[in-house]
Amino acid sequence: MSSNRSVTLSDDSNGKTWKFPVLAGSTGPDVIDVRKLYGDTGMFTYDPGFTSTGSCESKITYIDGDEGILLHRGYNIAELAERSDFMEVAYLLLNGELPTAEEKADFIHTISRHTMLHEQITTFYRGFRRDAHPMAVCCGVVGALSAFYHDSLDINDPHQRMISAHRLIAKMPTIAAMAYKYSAGQPFMYPQNNLSYAGNFLRMLFGVPAEEYVMNPVIEKAMDRILMLHADHEQNASTSTVRLAGSSGANPFACIAAGIASLWGPSHGGANEAVLNMLQHIGDRKNIGTFLSRVKDKNDHTRLMGFGHRVYKNYDPRATVMRKTCHEVLASLGIKDDPLLDLAMEMEQIALKDEYFVSKKLYPNVDFYSGIIFRAIGIPVSMFTVLFAVARTTGWIAQWREMIEDPQSKIGRPRQLYTGQTERPYVPIHARK
Ligand code: ACO
Repeated sequence: MSSNRSVTLSDDSNGKTWKFPVLAGSTGPDVIDVRKLYGDTGMFTYDPGFTSTGSCESKITYIDGDEGILLHRGYNIAELAERSDFMEVAYLLLNGELPTAEEKADFIHTISRHTMLHEQITTFYRGFRRDAHPMAVCCGVVGALSAFYHDSLDINDPHQRMISAHRLIAKMPTIAAMAYKYSAGQPFMYPQNNLSYAGNFLRMLFGVPAEEYVMNPVIEKAMDRILMLHADHEQNASTSTVRLAGSSGANPFACIAAGIASLWGPSHGGANEAVLNMLQHIGDRKNIGTFLSRVKDKNDHTRLMGFGHRVYKNYDPRATVMRKTCHEVLASLGIKDDPLLDLAMEMEQIALKDEYFVSKKLYPNVDFYSGIIFRAIGIPVSMFTVLFAVARTTGWIAQWREMIEDPQSKIGRPRQLYTGQTERPYVPIHARK
């Protein structure tokens, strides 16, 4: 971790200098250790959006945004997507190594034993409006889990931490599918534990008690891959939210509810929903030109949703896999003439050649394609971000556990550059103007 390097900071106004150690990770850029900065200099760093700030040490996920590389515990996402499955990746993120055959079977058994919800939780759903956004429902229900599973709330007990991790991974598809069923006015489907994680989720979403659910293996595989590709992504907004909430000692269910809230925003997980809304708004390929001129206009706040990424300034490696899956799903379902999907493919081609996007290194991100796949398999637009939350729960809880187990971890408490009023006397109401 520590390197022999240091950097020197000098204050031009008085010539004072301070040395700060440089820490080296196993790969990726080195970091300047500024933990003593305030104590030594009386100054803070200023970094809105944390574009230059490492908030923690982590061994889970590595991203090289310039090269378009994403590794989980050292394994490349493209290789995992090709050769692994979501349960293995979940095990890997949580435990640091790929499971042996026996460990994998045990893990699947454990997860499938936790898929049901406390029956009282179903009454919770009935308190929501039928037209509530499913992200609002999921956020509420996941937060409420802490009111039901008191036996896994002690964050200082490693066994309880692991049980809550298993519970969250296992119950998220059930919670998400119930949110959908409630909005559709259909009966809740109980989980069926002999199905795969993805298959069970699809059946809970699309099955009805009156008929046997027939699984399409291409869609089951695509769903598994989508879950894998969204499982973790280093210290993004929602993961940092989970860590920050957890740094105060909050219970894991509350922390994951906070993560879901953060994911919901259109700049983050809400982008897959925003992509479809944008395509619907454009409506026809003849309107693409006008739309792109709005995107490029500095005075217009329109963005090309599903393009660009804070870290990837090259192709998002998940988007490469997702693009392939997208074409597989469209072919398997025999979808040839969906005007919205045609529009998406045309937008992709135009934007990839357009000087504005090329010069700013704005490539399609994972959400551009996941939205299209979800639409093709019949998932309603409002559920898109919920599916992302189901997948990301694995990463969130792995990152939360890593933080709790890190002896260096402290309550998260950023500082600020204050530019408001300095101290002034209170003005009585009759004297105010
Ligand atoms: N459309 C048009 N212009 C864009 C876009 C976009 N999608 N993204 C960035 N830009 C432009 C900005 O206007 C800015 O231009 P300027 O330098 O002339 O001012 C430049 O590219 C840099 O953009 P920033 O906003 O500074 O980049 P940042 O790293 O903060 O933003 C973000 C990343 C939020 C993802 C952004 O690219 C965006 O809004 N994309 C659309 C939403 C989206 O798809 N989000 C999903 C992210 S992936 C995920 O969460 C799984």
